[in-house]
Amino acid sequence: MAKELTGAGLRGQVAGKTALSTVGQSGSGLTYRGYDVKDLAKTCQFEEVAYLILKGKLPNKTELFSYKEKLKSLRGLPQALKEVLERIPKDAHPMDVLRTGCSMLGNLEMEADFSQQSEVTDRMLACFPSIICYWYRFSHDGKRIDTETNDDSIGAHFLHMLHGEKPRELHEQVMHVSLILYAEHEFNASTFTARVCASTLSDMHSCITGAIGSLRGPLHGGANEAAMEMIEGFTSAAHAEEEMMGKLARKEKIMGFGHAIYKESDPRNEIIKNWSEKLAADVGDDVLYPVSVRCEEVMWREKKLFCNADFFHASAYNFMGIPTKLFTPIFVMSRLTGWAAHVMEQRADNRIIRPSAEYTGDALRPVPPMEARD
Ligand code: COA
Repeated sequence: MAKELTGAGLRGQVAGKTALSTVGQSGSGLTYRGYDVKDLAKTCQFEEVAYLILKGKLPNKTELFSYKEKLKSLRGLPQALKEVLERIPKDAHPMDVLRTGCSMLGNLEMEADFSQQSEVTDRMLACFPSIICYWYRFSHDGKRIDTETNDDSIGAHFLHMLHGEKPRELHEQVMHVSLILYAEHEFNASTFTARVCASTLSDMHSCITGAIGSLRGPLHGGANEAAMEMIEGFTSAAHAEEEMMGKLARKEKIMGFGHAIYKESDPRNEIIKNWSEKLAADVGDDVLYPVSVRCEEVMWREKKLFCNADFFHASAYNFMGIPTKLFTPIFVMSRLTGWAAHVMEQRADNRIIRPSAEYTGDALRPVPPMEARD
């Protein structure tokens, strides 16, 4: 007999083991393999953190150099994948483009067996920015861009392809921080999706494709786009306050606030908020950042709800000239590391994930003959 359901959304239930991260347990609230995300975001490049998550240790100087060189060499896209991307319409959602791109890559460069898991992951890490920008620039500007740039980092590679010029140092730095903050987050919905898929002994591309689909929704990764759509409608802090009070009175859900595990604050918020403030000063903004701060104040004052990682990411990305619909794909470019590491962890100690359900339907009954039915 199945145990009675203790909480909707499996909240608070331990659904497996991981050595990858802790959420709401120690340090500032988020740790990757024992390191506080606050410390990692202060001193590391994203590639260092990706290496840590995927390979289990922080790389030394030589290891980091060769890892970055390897990723650089994997930025090109197969012709068949480019042709698929060229057929996806301009008004498609970029998360759907990535989902298709990942799946197509799995057809062209199949993970034949699990000994290739590290290689296929590095390949995806290197070429997801290429997939998204190749489609974006082709569908929006009619340009077939060269995705094999020589940029030093994944964030710079992405910004370079998107804007057609090498990014400024400040923007590359913010991308490092942003990608570090999004890299891993324990058993969130998309990671759990990846692990369930991995538990059937499926291939890496299927696990990641499924995870992209989970991340797409506005209750998960899509929140940064929804937050942007909201704040860009506010013309001043006072206007934001008025509108937010109306939303709260109508009991609307405000994207970019609240969290399933953190109860008082999301440690990632303070970090990205600081960078958003710097970017606001850099572009001379006097609307979007003050509007965002006022939203934060109103939500805390009225509902004791705090900004999660997504809220100040919205303004930060906007200040760097990133189109709103590309926000969640950036999340994918980063979280891919966490997903793949979880797939590897699941494979290393696997049992198919198959919980039970609490049945709420009709009691056992006979099938009535056709003439006796309504
Ligand atoms: N706006 C308004 N009210 C919110 C809210 C938000 N963003 N987040 C939570 N609440 C409310 C809930 O409606 C609930 O109210 P109720 O008890 O009157 O029904 C209460 O606060 C407690 O919610 P909680 O149980 O903590 O939320 P959850 O664990 O079910 O869901 C989220 C967590 C993240 C899905 C939820 O906070 C949310 O939908 N946030 C907006 C989407 C978002 O930013 N997602 C990105 C997460 S990183």
